[in-house]
Amino acid sequence: MFSRYKKPSEGEAKPVKAAPTAAAPEKAAAPQKAPAAQAPKKSLMKDMPSKLAAASAPDKEQKRKQRLGEIKLELHRALLDNLNLSALDQATEKDLRAEIVAISGETLEDMGVVLNRDERAALNQELYDEVKGLGPLEALLQDESVNDILVNGPKRIFVERAGKLELTDITFKDEKHLLRIIDKIVSAVGRRVDESNPYVDARLADGSRFNAMVPPIAVDGSLVSIRKFKKDKLGISDLVNFGAFTEEMAAYLQAAVATRLNIIVSGGTGSGKTTTLNALSSFIDNAERILTIEDTAELQLQQVHVGRMESRPPNVEGKGEVSPRDCLKNALRMRPDRIIVGETRGEEVIDMLQAMNTGHDGSMTTIHANSARDGVSRLENMIAMAGIEMPIKAVRSQISSAVNLIVQASRLQDGSRRMTSITEITGMEGDVISMQEIFRFQRVGLTPDNKIIGHFTGTGVRSHFSERFKLWGYDLPAHIFEPVVAE
Ligand SMILES: Nc1ncnc2c1ncn2[C@@H]1O[C@H](COP(=O)(O)OP(=O)(O)OP(=O)(O)O)[C@@H](O)[C@H]1O
Ligand SMILES: [Mg+2]
Repeated sequence: MFSRYKKPSEGEAKPVKAAPTAAAPEKAAAPQKAPAAQAPKKSLMKDMPSKLAAASAPDKEQKRKQRLGEIKLELHRALLDNLNLSALDQATEKDLRAEIVAISGETLEDMGVVLNRDERAALNQELYDEVKGLGPLEALLQDESVNDILVNGPKRIFVERAGKLELTDITFKDEKHLLRIIDKIVSAVGRRVDESNPYVDARLADGSRFNAMVPPIAVDGSLVSIRKFKKDKLGISDLVNFGAFTEEMAAYLQAAVATRLNIIVSGGTGSGKTTTLNALSSFIDNAERILTIEDTAELQLQQVHVGRMESRPPNVEGKGEVSPRDCLKNALRMRPDRIIVGETRGEEVIDMLQAMNTGHDGSMTTIHANSARDGVSRLENMIAMAGIEMPIKAVRSQISSAVNLIVQASRLQDGSRRMTSITEITGMEGDVISMQEIFRFQRVGLTPDNKIIGHFTGTGVRSHFSERFKLWGYDLPAHIFEPVVAE
C-alpha cells in the first residue's frame, strides 16, 4: 500500500497537472453539437445542454417501446395469474426461469406476437427481475458503472455515472408499480411505508443505502435514492490516481492518521466523505481496536480488530430506537483505541468531542459542511441543538481542543470529486478558533467542455503538527508544503 513518505529528492514535487477527472473514460453523455450549424445570434449566455434531449427518441422507436411495454404488462399479469406465488420462495432460480419462459412463450403465442431471440431473452430477464428482484431497478443495481440511482416518480429514473447524472430510458409502469417495488424493499427489512409513514431509510441486501419518500409528501410520485454499495471501495492510491488529491497530501494525511490526530471530513451530499473516511482508515495500525458507528454500515475497514455498529431508527410503533449517541456511549465502554462515526449530525456530537478529548484520539467522523469554518459552525450549532447550555467560548474551546484537522471533500461542477482543502485547527485566539489551511485545490479555469482546470498546492504554511510528526517518525520534507506555481 501507500508507503511512508521518505525521500524528497526523487520526483521533485512535480507541478500538478490538471488531473484526470474521476473514474472511467469519458462517457460522451450527449454528442457534441456543432455550434456553427445554429443561428449566428451572439448571446452572452452559454447554451444550456438539455439533459432530457437524449430521452426523445424517434417516433417509430417510441411506438415500438410502447408496444413492448404493453406486452410486458400483459405478460406480467399472465405471470401473476399463473405462478404459484407462495411457492416462489422455495423455487430454485433455474425452475423459476424455466417457468417464466414457458408462461411468457404461451402468452406471446396467444397474443400473436413474434419477438426475436434477444428481445425474448430481455423480456424474460425483466419478468424474472420483477418477480424475484426489484423490477426495473434490478438492471441498474447490477450495472457496475452506476454509483447512484435516483427515481423521480415512475417515469423518470436517473443514474450517476462517473460523477454525472444521466436520465435513463428505464421506467416503471406506473406509480402503483413503483410503490410495489418500494414496498418489497422496505418490508424485507421489517419496515413500512405508506401515507401515514411516508418516508423510510433502509439497507438493501447487497449493502446499498436506500431512501424512499412516497405521496402525498412526494408530490409527483415516489422519490427513491439509492447509493450503491461498492464492494471495492476506492483506496488512497485510487483517489490519488483519480486526481482527488496528491501524493504529497496523502503523505501528510498518513502522518496525521498514524500520529492519531482527530480528523473531521467535511463535505456536501455525495461529495465523497465516506469514501475519504474509508481511505483514511487504511493508515490506521493493524494492532488497534477500532469501533465504527454508522446509520447504514458502509465503511469497509481493512484492519483485523474492527467492531461495527449500526444505529436503528424506531419501528412502526415508535419503539426500539438505538440512536448513534446510544451506540457511541456504549462504544466508550468497549475499550476502543479509535472510534469512527460515519456521520455526526445530532446530539452525538457531544460524546464524539468528549471521546476525542479524552483518550480516544485518532478518532474520525464526517459532517455536512461547505468549508472548514462552516464545519466548525455546524459543530457549534449541533451542540446548541443538543440543549447544552454553555457559553460560546467554552463550546469553541471544546471544539478546538478536540478536533485537529478538517478535510474538505467537494463535488465540483464538472462532476469530479476532490479534496479541496486540508485545514488544521491550531487553538483559540480570544473567542475565535484559529485555523490554518495547509493544502488547497486552486481552480484556474474551465475547458471549453466545462471541465475544471486547476491544481493542488501547499499554502506555504508549515504544519502545526510538524514536531509531532517528526517525533512519531514521520519526517515530512518541507517542500511538500510549498505553493505550486502553475505553468
Ligand atoms: N474521488 C472520487 N472519484 C470518483 N468517485 C468518487 C470519488 N469519491 C467518491 N466517489 C464516489 O462517489 C459516490 C459518493 O461517495 P460517498 O458515499 O463517499 O459520498 P458521501 O459524501 O459520503 O455521500 P453522502 O452525503 O450521501 O453520505 C460513491 O459512489 C463513491 O464511490
Ligand atoms: Mg456518506
